[in-house]
Amino acid sequence: MVQNKVDAKPILVVDDDGDIRLALEMLLKYEGFEVWTARDGQEALARLDAEEAQGRRAALILTDLKMPQLDGLELLEQIQQRKSPPPVILISGHGDVATAVEAMQRGAANFLEKPLVDNRVLVTIQQALFCERISRENDGLRKHLGEQWEMVGESPATAALREQITRVAPALAAVLIRGENGTGKEIVARNLHLASPRAAEPFITVNCAAIPSELIESELFGHEKGSFTGALERRIGHFEAADGGTLFLDEIGDMPAGAQAKVLRALETLEITRVGHSQTIPVNIRVVAATNLDLAAAVEAGSFRLDLFYRLNVVPLALAPLRERREDILPLARHFLACAAARAGRSALELTEEAQKKLLALTYPGNVRQLRNLLVGASVFAEGEQLGAADLEQILSSGPAMSIPETALATGTSDPFSAPTFEVFKDQSEALFFRQKLDANSGNVKRTAEQLGMQRSHLYKKLDRYGLRG
Ligand SMILES: Nc1ncnc2c1ncn2[C@@H]1O[C@H](COP(=O)(O)OP(=O)(O)OP(=O)(O)O)[C@@H](O)[C@H]1O
Ligand SMILES: [Mg+2]
Repeated sequence: MVQNKVDAKPILVVDDDGDIRLALEMLLKYEGFEVWTARDGQEALARLDAEEAQGRRAALILTDLKMPQLDGLELLEQIQQRKSPPPVILISGHGDVATAVEAMQRGAANFLEKPLVDNRVLVTIQQALFCERISRENDGLRKHLGEQWEMVGESPATAALREQITRVAPALAAVLIRGENGTGKEIVARNLHLASPRAAEPFITVNCAAIPSELIESELFGHEKGSFTGALERRIGHFEAADGGTLFLDEIGDMPAGAQAKVLRALETLEITRVGHSQTIPVNIRVVAATNLDLAAAVEAGSFRLDLFYRLNVVPLALAPLRERREDILPLARHFLACAAARAGRSALELTEEAQKKLLALTYPGNVRQLRNLLVGASVFAEGEQLGAADLEQILSSGPAMSIPETALATGTSDPFSAPTFEVFKDQSEALFFRQKLDANSGNVKRTAEQLGMQRSHLYKKLDRYGLRG
């Protein structure tokens, strides 16, 4: 595995035994690493400082445990106090494996026992570097996801909502979010989760409208292998997957009656039974549900169970339509332009005066999602650094993406056959198609693209076009 010298990763080898230092240096250099050496902890820290002053950082530290001056454990401790510390692998003598284990509990990446075996050394190093990379990618991803769920808006309604979220998030109480299509119900559900002590645990979304009624039980509670035709593997259901975290029951108003009873029982007992299994499994979940329907009216009409309504509606949160909180329009518009720019790796477009006036004058039946679609669409037409009223007009006058009824995107129930023109029909059908495939894959774009045999980037373009992303 000889690496290119240009991107050779520096490894710091710390050992008071000159023979071991030399042996490791030769081995690692042969593998293409750059090698720095030090005789004890103090020398190691000095070397790290000197290199850092030159803008170089160690990719990994391999250190002996027993050394004069500063020993391996002390070195580990000091390293961990530095900014983005590299992984540390400890080398332990025969007798001090227990200390090495303790070191791992204190954050060492791994340990190697003397006498050192070349292959073991290399595998352990590669593993540690790999884990480090994954963990860094994860941090980046988390940051990215956090940004994606950032709630923007300066209206009193949004300020009050933010305050409610902060107040309600720490509790276990069920929350029912009510709002028109595209008002931000999912983003609120995510924020409730992220502001709760469960933030690091799973957030599982169930689109209650998208599950065929005969599969609901297995989707929600899981099944054992062979429990019915087609059950080829054991499957963990959404309730179990959300254990410890938040279960988001989206479009709860569309849940079939049969499923309502089962969900109620699971929420009451906090226990589930997989299909084809006899044992009950306890689940620790926080439930957040969302709907664009008037559930109280659905209860009146007999299509929604009163007891389930009570169980879910412990804390009701109502989201105002965008036309009733106009102070949010421009901050949201700038936010969407900034997100689009970040994705494209360029700086954000600025809104001209006229564009701002135009945005403030619209009614947004499709709420925030419609505003987002409008900006993503219009920025395609923008030339230079600014987005003008004319660019918005391109989409508003005839833009196919804007002629899709929001209901088609939201519930997947609108009928494309009632479209006035062929263009609109094509767009509606395509939007419905992608929405449904994405839902069937729980919003997982990679899996959806694989299933459809499409390039992921191509699918992303489609999703952006129809505002189906995020
Ligand atoms: N306050 C907000 N700040 C930033 N983005 C927002 C905000 N509200 C909504 N959005 C964005 O608008 C789009 C629609 O929001 P979301 O999916 O949460 O709405 P929804 O109420 O669940 O819609 P639907 O009823 O169609 O399921 C998303 O892209 C979301 O990120
Ligand atoms: Mg939603």
